[in-house]
Amino acid sequence: MSSLQLLLRNSRGAGSWFGRSGAGALSGVLSVARRSIIDLSYSTHFMDFNGSSIPSSMKKLVVTKLSPDFRSAVSVQTVAIPTPADSELLVRNRFVGINASDINYSAGRYDPSLKPPFDAGFEGIGEVVGLGLSASSRYTIGDTVAYFGSGAFAEYTVVPAKVSVPVPAVKPEFLTLLVSGATAYIALKRLGDLAEGETVLVTAAAGGTGQFAVQFAKQAGCHVIGTYSSNEKAGFLKSLGCNRPVNYTTEDLAKTLRKEYPKGINVVYESVGGSVLETAVNSLANKGRLIVIGFISGYQTPSGIPPFKGGTLPVKLLQKSASMRGFFLPHFLSDYTEALSSMIQMFAKGKLVCEVDYGELAPGGKFVGLESIYRAMDYMYAGKNLGKVVVEVAPPSVSNSKL
Ligand SMILES: NC(=O)c1ccc[n+]([C@@H]2O[C@H](COP(=O)([O-])OP(=O)(O)OC[C@H]3O[C@@H](n4cnc5c(N)ncnc54)[C@H](OP(=O)(O)O)[C@@H]3O)[C@@H](O)[C@H]2O)c1
Repeated sequence: MSSLQLLLRNSRGAGSWFGRSGAGALSGVLSVARRSIIDLSYSTHFMDFNGSSIPSSMKKLVVTKLSPDFRSAVSVQTVAIPTPADSELLVRNRFVGINASDINYSAGRYDPSLKPPFDAGFEGIGEVVGLGLSASSRYTIGDTVAYFGSGAFAEYTVVPAKVSVPVPAVKPEFLTLLVSGATAYIALKRLGDLAEGETVLVTAAAGGTGQFAVQFAKQAGCHVIGTYSSNEKAGFLKSLGCNRPVNYTTEDLAKTLRKEYPKGINVVYESVGGSVLETAVNSLANKGRLIVIGFISGYQTPSGIPPFKGGTLPVKLLQKSASMRGFFLPHFLSDYTEALSSMIQMFAKGKLVCEVDYGELAPGGKFVGLESIYRAMDYMYAGKNLGKVVVEVAPPSVSNSKL
């Protein structure tokens, strides 16, 4: 039996959009210390008030006004701790992940039918401190879980058990894989058609998802060019195996690509949009593939879309038999299980770097506490992050549980 099969066999699994075996892959890396639960109320849910010192109220970030300006869209509110329903978990968040698209969400661009107030944040990792009866068939108090779902920017979040992923420990590295890693893995695998010896351009290469695109392209035997905006990122990119880091604030990217890669670029993993996208299109090789991952340079504008001179795009694509394809992670859920399993194994074997940026070098220091999410967002949009931006919402729980 392969190690993957062993990992999957050990799964308690969460039937979810993560898939059963994806959850199992995470739980199989290390064994999880477990405590039994106690039914305090003889009602339909269990809450570990003694073990986890659950307070009566908590803070969370709520979108109160639609805007791409995160500070004006989102406010901190104090609310009662929610009670999990039958199939739900109450998770005490330890770490939450920052995504470039948090401001698309606060601007109402994901779901136009969603009207404020609504909860912010996409992903978290922490400890189960309460759960409903049917959720208790899979989970118990003290389990550590990661999840990708709305409302993560809170001290406690109610998460459907079926979208929770058991993790062996509350390590922020697991957060880096849920969205950022999975996006790079699946996009390159399904849309990149990478072949050994090809040249791959990754934009925003030192960021949350870019760091994974660089590594997966290198693993496929490609020559990798990575763009970045400040010199401290160059060493990091080299350590990932990036062959040609390009600081696009001091070097002319178009000129560099023309001069050093006259045959063109085979595959582009493009996250910036606007003029960078135009340069990338112009640099494509014959039969080149450009994957549209995002267009962060426009997210803070009212439309969310950076200007792009696309009038001649069909001509450029035709002349090179090139293609341009969009990728949106929720459309590739059937690939998610395999992606997560594979990345977890690579991480466990030391073959995948999951760089986390806690903001130690940010103005104001490390991102600790919910209020620091605002600083974390500013930091990312100032282009300062090296790896995935993560906020430590709460310190490790000191359990005095007698359970
Ligand atoms: N399609 C999907 O399913 C999917 C999923 C996840 C992420 N994404 C996309 O992937 C991209 C990166 O997201 P992430 O969450 O991983 O963020 P990230 O790469 O960790 O951080 C964003 C990086 O983008 C660059 N940047 C920031 N503001 C910019 C601006 N105004 N103009 C140009 N570059 C800017 C900065 O790097 P440098 O300054 O060093 O270039 C910054 O470090 C985004 O476009 C996001 O929407 C897409």
